Amino acid sequence: MLNLVILISGRGSNMENILKAVKKNKIPIKPLLVISNKPDAKGLAIAQKLGVKTEIVESNGLKGGNWEYDSKLVSVLEKHKITPQNCLICLAGFMRIMSPEFIRHYKGRIMNIHPAILPAFPGLHSQRQALEYGVKYSGCTVHFVDEGVDTGPIILQSVVKIKNSDTEESISKKILKEEHKIYPKAVKLFAKGKIKIDGRKTIIS
Ligand code: GRF
Repeated sequence: MLNLVILISGRGSNMENILKAVKKNKIPIKPLLVISNKPDAKGLAIAQKLGVKTEIVESNGLKGGNWEYDSKLVSVLEKHKITPQNCLICLAGFMRIMSPEFIRHYKGRIMNIHPAILPAFPGLHSQRQALEYGVKYSGCTVHFVDEGVDTGPIILQSVVKIKNSDTEESISKKILKEEHKIYPKAVKLFAKGKIKIDGRKTIIS
């Protein structure tokens, strides 16, 4: 069985939702480790309560996309016997850009959830970007992580309707509800070996 590692920086609601599905035997994967770059991330206590080991790898001012920081992550993963062959790494509100070295090391094994229908509104504050642009629909995307920002092969997407009365907060809430549906689905598909990467596309069997 594959080992699941989840990287967080804060609230950890996607992490919690995935871990709960795993605990209910809905996803055939071993929930091995949660790592946060922030010692005060709320998700850490949630993971511990769910019986999952946690580690903190603090950023200490190291910028995103930096191998100096990411090599520390690799050391922690290796300490827990996690290899590029036996894992799935889920970024769930992990507020750092991964370095090209890290991405190459775990090629095709890092997923992310983004609160917009990519390729629209990549980067930060996607819900606000969608509202300001005036789109009538937005949503969320689970994708593999490649060397760009939110550019990797798309696995699943879910759409929400935007009304005139919506605010950044209400859109975020609607999108989060969809995130909680599609992220566990994507993890399950991966755990069952049902996702193939074909260039910039994924083929789901
Ligand atoms: C989510 O909106 C996710 O799409 C984005 O960061 C947020 C994380 O929320 N990448 P949570 O920590 O999973 O509650």
